[in-house]
Amino acid sequence: MTDAIRPLIAGNWKMNGLKAQAAEFDAMLDRAAEVTGKADLLVCPPATLIAAFADKARGKKVAVGAQDCHPKASGAHTGDIAAEMLVDAGASAVIVGHSERRADHCEDDALVRQKTEAAWRAGATAIVCIGETQAQRDAGQTLEILGGQLAGSLPESSTAANLVVAYEPVWAIGTGLTPTTRDVEQIHGFIREFLTSRFKADGASMRILYGGSVKPSNAAELMAVKNVNGALVGGASLKAADFLAIAKGCP
Ligand code: PGA
Repeated sequence: MTDAIRPLIAGNWKMNGLKAQAAEFDAMLDRAAEVTGKADLLVCPPATLIAAFADKARGKKVAVGAQDCHPKASGAHTGDIAAEMLVDAGASAVIVGHSERRADHCEDDALVRQKTEAAWRAGATAIVCIGETQAQRDAGQTLEILGGQLAGSLPESSTAANLVVAYEPVWAIGTGLTPTTRDVEQIHGFIREFLTSRFKADGASMRILYGGSVKPSNAAELMAVKNVNGALVGGASLKAADFLAIAKGCP
């Protein structure tokens, strides 16, 4: 953990959550004060719940974000949602380039970069996800893949205030598998070097999250690794107790 960087624990609810499950979010709001000394909290519910969650979260210690946006601000794009609409609904951050979107919707680095710029245009922080697949890892291509994703997905005007990078090995997402802390340290060190060489002063203070099967039982170990500045949490972010326990694991 880089001392000066305040950790961010971000929950990605993916395509989970109906109005009836809002009680878990209410519990997060009620208990957020328990972890304010440790980390910032962000919950990214499905788009259908952003407005309701953002209304409840006003003045509380949990921010609300979105999981994707369209690159354009408006227009004839049936079914898509502009970053401006997400911010209008109360989102302050947008996850872009998640591996599930890269895989399910054929999103490439150039599109992820446009979506990052769209989030900024609307006034939101972009959380840009990168990560290698199992096959790429087995072929020893991890750093090459991540370097290419960083170079292609991050716009020139990235700053510590508008950008968060999330390293999510695809093989670790939803599988219960995690890289060793040694691997995480090496990869986050590689990402930090990329950020400091490309963005100079700001690169040293940009948050780099780890994501992929983070849970209460492994959070403290992962969050203690150098250059890990928080977590992007999928499954375990659906339960207030687990999500807050992960935040408590920050050093
Ligand atoms: P997981 O998902 O925590 O359920 O592995 C992480 C993510 O995809 O953001």
